[in-house]
Amino acid sequence: MPPIPKAELHLHIEGTLEPELAFALAARNSVELPYLSEAELRAAYSFSDLQSFLDLYYALMAVLRTEDDFADLADAYLARARAQGVRHAEIFFDPQAHTARGLEIGTVIEGLTRALDAAEERHGISTRLIMCFLRDESAESALATFEAARPYLDRIAAVGLDSAEVGNPPSKFREVYARAREAGLKCVAHAGEEGPPAYIWEALDLLGVDRVDHGVRCMEDDALVARLAAERTPLTLCPLSNVRLRVIDKLADHPLPAMLDAGLLVTVNSDDPAYFGGYADDNFTGVRDALGLDDETLRTLARNSFHASFLDEETRAKYL
Ligand code: HPA
Ligand code: ZN
Repeated sequence: MPPIPKAELHLHIEGTLEPELAFALAARNSVELPYLSEAELRAAYSFSDLQSFLDLYYALMAVLRTEDDFADLADAYLARARAQGVRHAEIFFDPQAHTARGLEIGTVIEGLTRALDAAEERHGISTRLIMCFLRDESAESALATFEAARPYLDRIAAVGLDSAEVGNPPSKFREVYARAREAGLKCVAHAGEEGPPAYIWEALDLLGVDRVDHGVRCMEDDALVARLAAERTPLTLCPLSNVRLRVIDKLADHPLPAMLDAGLLVTVNSDDPAYFGGYADDNFTGVRDALGLDDETLRTLARNSFHASFLDEETRAKYL
């Protein structure tokens, strides 16, 4: 059976950097990697928590230097995504992780949008771009990043918030989210991955998010679950990521079925697939097999992904 058509709503483009492409870009840009081979690099993909992953994720970005690099990275992801049934992708990028290394924000955005603009024709995938702020950087840095991106806002659908969650609550970024909304952008934020339910409340009440990324820890707070269900706020779950970053012990423990039972609008996504052992459909088949989900439930998850997307009503309706 071909993979079920789906939208991917939680995908960090830098997290799609496969070892093979990392070594090719390292050679192209004369960047030295602290790993002798692709196998040795892959062997480092054993994480104890979010931070242990982030350390490698940021280190490997050193190979991304030019517009072509970002275009090649995005094109490689889109080819893989299509093979996994993805018809629409809303793609995160981390501009501060690149400007901190001396790159211009325009290099990153021009490179990514070159691949995204060609995606419909080359891969049959519609796309949106989501600019994330690094929550372990300052609120001032997020504001400066937003202003640096102003000339490119016509290419950006939404802002997001990622990186080390605990100790960096959504409240820190109120001002930049207000500015983004004023500019007509949608808003999402990672919340309740490692952080407590209180961070999800803050993302809703202080940042006014349209979706919550991860949000798995909402299940610890009944009032929060009731709120998310009543408002049909989408949650972008990433099951394989949750196992690799030890948010849960194993896929069979994932609260996804309980979340569906609670009336939550959950979607299944791949987060950083090059690091976590699977792309979009690998996450679908992973939860199907580990949790015994039936075909109707898988269709619900796929339908939810389009429903929760930022596609216009008319395009969305084609998939529902
Ligand atoms: N959580 C937070 N920040 C991230 C992640 C994640 O799973 N992936 C890339 N940046
Ligand atoms: Zn993420």
